[in-house]
Amino acid sequence: MYRGVLFDLDGVIVDTAGYHFEAWKRLANSLGTDFTTEQNEQLKGVGRVESLQMILKWGEIVKTEEEQASLCIIKNDWYLDLITHMNESEILPDVKKMLDNLKDNNVHIALGSASKNAVTILKAVGLIDYFEAIIDGTKTTRSKPDPQTFELGAEALGLDPSECVVIEDSIKGIKAAKLGGFDTIGIGNPINLNASVVTVADLTELSYTCDDGKLIILDK
Ligand code: BG6
Ligand code: MG
Repeated sequence: MYRGVLFDLDGVIVDTAGYHFEAWKRLANSLGTDFTTEQNEQLKGVGRVESLQMILKWGEIVKTEEEQASLCIIKNDWYLDLITHMNESEILPDVKKMLDNLKDNNVHIALGSASKNAVTILKAVGLIDYFEAIIDGTKTTRSKPDPQTFELGAEALGLDPSECVVIEDSIKGIKAAKLGGFDTIGIGNPINLNASVVTVADLTELSYTCDDGKLIILDK
């Protein structure tokens, strides 16, 4: 049982992975390169600059630090264009139901995301008020799979990692949580993710109950 839940954002709360892919692909193509959907999987959970550096490496393209900074701005502008229309219809299945359940039962809720757009997105989809703590790409210095994002999340909730569970859709995010001593629930493919508690296709498949400040996962 858990007193706190740390949610990743992209791919767990909202399905923004496709928008990230579209914007990166446009940027890669503009640089005369491309990348595959398999390579894109490796970008999940990875911060903006590091993602660019991986795409440049795959395309054998060299850019200075300054050029990389401008390319990240261009990608983010394209990404922001793609997400401007976002509203609550883009919240993934049963996310709101789970947040309501946790809140009604006094289970603590935090966000642990690499995205610097997290607050914008949470506001756009109307979920920002559920989060007692938001640890996003503006608050961290080390990317997943480093556990810093989740460690800061647990600390902000006043909980020990052993009292929290992390919900993640990326291999790097699950690894980060495990390294920080957190239990993990995976969203996606169980073979890739290897989460410690259970991996489900989406939250409609997660059996749980909340009682007296605690989340209990059923039917593992
Ligand atoms: C993660 C995504 O949540 O955030 C990555 O999985 C993304 O794909 C990263 O690169 C950084 O996001 P942003 O919004 O700051 O560019
Ligand atoms: Mg994610």
